Order: sequence, then structure tokens, then C-alpha cells
Amino acid sequence: MVIDKEYYKMIFKRKSFRRFNDTLKLSHDELRDIEEKVKALISLVDTIDVKYRIVRREETTCKRGEYCLLIYSEEKEKFLLNIGYMFEQLDLYLASKDIGVCWYGMGKTQESEYENLKFVIMMALGKGHSHEFRRDYTKCKRKETQEIWHGASGLEIVAEVVKYAPSACNTQPWRVVCEKNKLKVYRTTNIKSIMPKDKVPFYNSIDMGIFLYFLELAMLYNRISFQRFLCQEEDQAELIPIAIYHLI
Ligand SMILES: Cc1cc2nc3c(=O)[nH]c(=O)nc-3n(C[C@H](O)[C@H](O)[C@H](O)COP(=O)(O)O)c2cc1C
Repeated sequence: MVIDKEYYKMIFKRKSFRRFNDTLKLSHDELRDIEEKVKALISLVDTIDVKYRIVRREETTCKRGEYCLLIYSEEKEKFLLNIGYMFEQLDLYLASKDIGVCWYGMGKTQESEYENLKFVIMMALGKGHSHEFRRDYTKCKRKETQEIWHGASGLEIVAEVVKYAPSACNTQPWRVVCEKNKLKVYRTTNIKSIMPKDKVPFYNSIDMGIFLYFLELAMLYNRISFQRFLCQEEDQAELIPIAIYHLI
């Protein structure tokens, strides 16, 4: 698999844009570039059909940004993981172009279907100034590494970086256990959040897809080769297995 290592640096620059500068506009070329980039996103599960539309923010309930990217998907197993994994690539890429992004789980659109696919989530987009992006990532609120990652022999750098992945209400549902040459990635259901309880699995599954992308990017950047195995979905446990990585 090829992952653009340039994206790695954007882990430290990206942030959820909430105050967009209304005097700045995305150009036609930028919009076309976004469309091209979306078409080139790497999927996690390539048998799931995903489509998108870019609409003016006013066509949605979103209060931020100039445009909203509406994401539609087939609702097959792992479709939420797939959406997180794919569109986080766009978040990182757009940071490199000084385009601000905010995953916007609260946003609604009247177009709840598009070409027979269901609306999943939107991202708010708008042009920013480079100085408006994150300047010191160590200052952003995240859990302590030891809370989310156990047994990091040789992977300390990766463990330090992946925790900066964005997640709905900053819930950070990821937990990683590193054993010998294996990384086990889980989603914890023990989440304290203002999110309605029945919405947590939905958003946290997207978060887990985002996290898998961060993890793979950080491993590739650090020249750690791996083979990924996605786990069967299980609903009961406090720690739901998501993926196992065999380190090669
Ligand atoms: C799936 C998902 C949904 C989100 N929904 C919203 C939202 O509805 N409103 C909002 O202001 N931020 C939303 N966010 C942004 C998170 O609050 C943000 O990622 C988190 O607080 C970490 O901050 P950071 O992205 O600036 O690093 C969402 C993020 C994700 C991943």
C-alpha cells in the first residue's frame, strides 16, 4: 500500500476549524483539486461504494465554513471505519493547502440519499490562513499515551503521534495493545461524553477509521512494515477488536 508520507507532517498542523474567515474564498482551482483528491483517496474496504457532493454550507444545517462535503456510502459492514479512514486523508491533505476542515457530525442535509447511497457525515470546508492552523500540537487536549497504548517496545514514537487523531467530541475511543510483533487495536465502549449514548457507536466507528489511518501513516513514516487484518464486528465487549497489525 502506498501512503503519502507528506501527510505525516500535517498530523501536527491540522485542527478542527471552527472559526472560518468569511473574507477568504476557495477558488475554482481549489475546488477542482479537492474533487480530484477525493477521487484518489485510498479505501480501507474497497468493496464499499462511497460518493460525495460538495455543496454550499447554506444548503445544510452547518453553521461553519464556505462549503460542506457531504459523504454518502453503502451501509455494508465496516462502512463507518472506511469513511473515517478515507476522508481523514482529505483532512490532512487540505491542511497542506491551508484549507480548514471540520468533521461535522451534527450537520444535517435534506439530501439524505444520493445515487442510492445513504448520507453518512459531512465535513465543513473553507480557506484559511496558514497561521490559523495548529502551531503547537503538544498543547492540544489528548489522553496520556499510557491510557491508550500498552506495551510499546520500539513503537514509542508511533504511540506518541497517533493519539493526535481527531475524534467526535474528542472521545478518543482507541486503545492499542502491543505484543511481540503484533498490534491489537480496539474501540472502547467505556466512553464518557455529552453525545447521546445511542450515537456513540456510529461516531466512534468513524473515529476508529481515522485512527487506523493515523496509525498506518505513522508506521510507514517510521519505516515499520505491517500487514493489516480487520476484525469481525462484535458488539458486546467493553473493548471491541477493530484491527490487528502484524509487524514485519
Ligand atoms: C466523526 C467526527 C465528528 C465530529 N463532529 C463535530 C461536530 O459536530 N461539531 C464540532 O464542532 N466538531 C466536531 N468534530 C471535531 C472534534 O470535536 C475534534 O476532532 C476533537 O475535539 C479534537 O480536536 P482537533 O480536531 O482540533 O484536534 C468531529 C470530529 C469527528 C472525528
